[in-house]
Amino acid sequence: MAISSKLPAVGTNIFSKMSALSSAKGAINLSQGFPDFKPDEGLLQRASTALLQGNNQYAPMTGLPSLRDAIARLIARHYGRQVNATEEITVTSGASEAIFNAITALIQPDDEVILFDPAYDLYEPAITLAGGVCRRVTLTAPDFRPDWLEFASLLTEKTRLVIINTPHNPTGSCWSAEDLDALWQAIKSQDIYVLSDEVYEFIHFSGQAVSVHKHAELSARSFVVSSFGKSFHLTGWKVGYVVAPVALTEELRKVHQYVTFCTATPLQQALAEHLVDVPESSAELAGFYQQKRDVLREALASSRFDLLPCDGTYFQLLDYRAISELDDVAFCEWLIDEVGVAAIPVSVFYQDAPQDQRLIRLCFAKEEHTLVEAAQKLSQL
Ligand SMILES: Cc1ncc(COP(=O)(O)O)c(C=O)c1O
Repeated sequence: MAISSKLPAVGTNIFSKMSALSSAKGAINLSQGFPDFKPDEGLLQRASTALLQGNNQYAPMTGLPSLRDAIARLIARHYGRQVNATEEITVTSGASEAIFNAITALIQPDDEVILFDPAYDLYEPAITLAGGVCRRVTLTAPDFRPDWLEFASLLTEKTRLVIINTPHNPTGSCWSAEDLDALWQAIKSQDIYVLSDEVYEFIHFSGQAVSVHKHAELSARSFVVSSFGKSFHLTGWKVGYVVAPVALTEELRKVHQYVTFCTATPLQQALAEHLVDVPESSAELAGFYQQKRDVLREALASSRFDLLPCDGTYFQLLDYRAISELDDVAFCEWLIDEVGVAAIPVSVFYQDAPQDQRLIRLCFAKEEHTLVEAAQKLSQL
């Protein structure tokens, strides 16, 4: 059957590929970004009670009111921003659905969207399906700072959306308040919107994370997306949310109601109760992951890998140029086969990766003994 593909360049993504290779070879899997430890027991109990005794029918399209209220309080507590839980918050099936809906709602054929490469792999296919065109600012090691002159050179009258992600997957870098100001100054005179992917908002290691929630002008033009998968170690639940001003939310909900309509009711109920009963848990996340980052960095300190700075997320980048001249995809395959550790090549997050970059990404959302065992293997190289 000859089907004319709408996404001809898309194949099985690198995360599925590396995880499959890793389990086939019995390697330690630090490739895909998911925790190998249990979420909070109380939260699991609540989910189980909600399933057995609760409401297992469709939730309201925009999310359970109790969950939207709890999210509004979370945002007020962390960022001092008051959002209307009824009109500005939408619960989605993971941050992925929120991102897809925002792009689909906003992008018309030939609209241009500016991305910062390396970029999370969902953005481009969603833009392509909507008929949009990607324009890219290339971020380079070791600090991956945006070049605002390069950014300005990409702006045209067709620019409709800018997608940002801080703390940043895959690099672990974080934007500064000055970066958000520079973004605002660059776009303020045009009709341009922002999609701020903040799924790692609570995992940052140098003071308070920068957020569009704290930038009044930007937040008036932005979709801000987050994920309970990241904040509560529940990537398999796929519950996320998006905060946006009323006009943007109205358009996003038109897509959301036909993509999924709503998100699993008992999981929303469990999260709503947990956010009320344990409100401080998100504030403890940074310390929790900082400890894991430090365990991994220390265990790799005497290796021949060069460790790049990691200010946020649960990803650590390693430069392997002292060890191998292989490209990063070949090096990751070799690591699984010969060393028994699975990592992700960073070039796959770029459209045109810098030729001389030799970087791999390790996920440290793992038990400490897993991190130490992987680091011991890597240190033998
Ligand atoms: C930067 C970024 N955005 C979005 C997502 C998707 O989040 P969710 O699993 O809630 O759909 C991820 C997941 O890895 C991510 O790393």
